[in-house]
Amino acid sequence: MYLANNDANHDPIASVYNAIGIASEAETIALILEQLMLKHLSKEAHILDIGCANGQLVQQFHIRGYQTTGLDCSEKLLHYAQINAPESKFILSDIRKFESLPTYDAVFSRNTLGFILNLDELTTVFRNVYAAMHNNGLFVFTIVTVDSVSRESLLEDFNICDITDKYVYLEEGKYNPEERTRELKSTTFELINGMWKRSDSTLLDKAYFSSEIQSALENVGFIEINHYNSKDFGDPTPTGEDCFVCRKPSLTR
Ligand SMILES: C[S@@+](CC[C@H](N)C(=O)[O-])C[C@H]1O[C@@H](n2cnc3c(N)ncnc32)[C@H](O)[C@@H]1O
Repeated sequence: MYLANNDANHDPIASVYNAIGIASEAETIALILEQLMLKHLSKEAHILDIGCANGQLVQQFHIRGYQTTGLDCSEKLLHYAQINAPESKFILSDIRKFESLPTYDAVFSRNTLGFILNLDELTTVFRNVYAAMHNNGLFVFTIVTVDSVSRESLLEDFNICDITDKYVYLEEGKYNPEERTRELKSTTFELINGMWKRSDSTLLDKAYFSSEIQSALENVGFIEINHYNSKDFGDPTPTGEDCFVCRKPSLTR
């Protein structure tokens, strides 16, 4: 089952996504997040990962002793998440429709909010996150912005080709500067019982201006909004990722 009704359906590539296995990447990201997020949390903190996919990062939070919940709109990815992070809780939901009482001390999201294709809906997502957080909670997310230092390479057209004995992953990305959208076309082949199974998917994501993101966060009520590149926190990749860090006030207005 896939709940989101825009072009973000990850179900067709879920199995190969899980086979690619980003466990080592998740470890690296968790090390960066120790600086950016985890050191500001108490040991009992409850973290929600939005767009948790196959749960690799949720498991990293769990290993570090936090209460952990993952949310994703892809039932197929959550199937793998439950295997990869068996002690954590998972919620099948479209984040645009997610309703929760204040429950979480921190909300994290990586490479997911760009799939929300317009600013009104992104603001709704920020509002839903705000409602789900305890006062003084921390909200940390990565998103591609148009005006970031890393935009040159992130918004170029690209091709990825990953061939192994068990799967083949092909991805083509094309950026449309007028719409500020990237079309990400993937084709996967997976060896199942001696037969190669082909799946295709087309995803669309949006590059926002950092000023648009900043204003949307402010309008919802977030404070102490900061914008970093993850390289500032030890990310070894050439471009790093745009990271926003903000807080829900201690006493909500
Ligand atoms: C590119 S993956 C990123 C996964 C992971 N956070 C990471 O960084 O490796 C994006 C994930 O967001 C999920 N997603 C996209 N739109 C969503 C929505 N509206 N609500 C909930 N999840 C969504 C997809 O199903 C997918 O698992």
